[in-house]
Amino acid sequence: MPKYKVYVTRRIPKPGPAFLKKNDCELTFWDSDDAIPHADLVNNIGENKYDALLCMLTDQVDAAVMDAAGPQLQVIASMSVGYEHIDLDACKERNIKVTNTPNVSTDSVAECTVSLLLFVTRRLKEGIQSVREGRQPEWRPTWLCGYEVTNSVIGIFGLGRIGYGVGKRLLPFGPKKMLYHDVVQVSFAKDIEAEYCETLDEMLGQVDFLCICCNLTPQTRHKINSKTLARMKNTAVIVNTGRGGVINHDDLCVALKNNTIGGAGLDVTEPEPLSKDHPLVGLPNCVITPHMGSNTWDSRDSMSLTAAQCIVSVFNKEKPMGLVA
Ligand code: DGY
Repeated sequence: MPKYKVYVTRRIPKPGPAFLKKNDCELTFWDSDDAIPHADLVNNIGENKYDALLCMLTDQVDAAVMDAAGPQLQVIASMSVGYEHIDLDACKERNIKVTNTPNVSTDSVAECTVSLLLFVTRRLKEGIQSVREGRQPEWRPTWLCGYEVTNSVIGIFGLGRIGYGVGKRLLPFGPKKMLYHDVVQVSFAKDIEAEYCETLDEMLGQVDFLCICCNLTPQTRHKINSKTLARMKNTAVIVNTGRGGVINHDDLCVALKNNTIGGAGLDVTEPEPLSKDHPLVGLPNCVITPHMGSNTWDSRDSMSLTAAQCIVSVFNKEKPMGLVA
């Protein structure tokens, strides 16, 4: 008889489940590629049936879920870096550990950030569309011109692992300056020649490219809004691979339409998924991808394995590598 029971809220890559099974765990899955509705999660987690919950960033893990699970539940392991979907206070009150999967998606998300940045600044969406719609003119000297990263000022909002990974990849392009804003100044910023800006406002007026790589917290929610957008250059490009909630999307839409800023590349939006009728979708200077920053097999296999390893560490009374709280 396996010693531990784990509820997994989605079909996930094999390494995690294989590791859990090897470590005396019996697994129950929400056997779907679609997110489990909250009511089903509350219902399925059952009282005192499960020792661990392996969840996704789409699951609202609140007190209702924890109370339904009962005191048997030791750990909630999210297969994501972000953990804003988990009520940390409720976990603390119930002595439930929370873990995430840091490190293993740093490269994939950083690569995606740089891809979006180049895609937007070189106006590739408009170029591709013109070919697709048979509107491609003969070569023209001033048509669909964008801006280079070379000699630009890059601003990174949130210099954690991913922000650093973005800076490391952009440095070889030869920017004039690299700036960052975060809650604290970090010593590793010097490796990417990044200067600290104590306030976001101080950074915004200077940048040609703003890469948003921060977490969503009450402090960062809607930090990019009509006021802060108005401080930016009208050619500036924003790339968001952090969380959609950092940007007020109505304000961004107005700014893109009025050319208050030059363009935006969004891998994360508010809400997700974004309706195809959302006004941002049709804008030529806005590129939207469906939260696919970590969509590489390397990352997803490692995220699955890391979440499983965190669970087993908690069972073994060891400190899990992705301990959040
Ligand atoms: C995360 O891990 O939080 C990412 O957003 C998933 O792509």
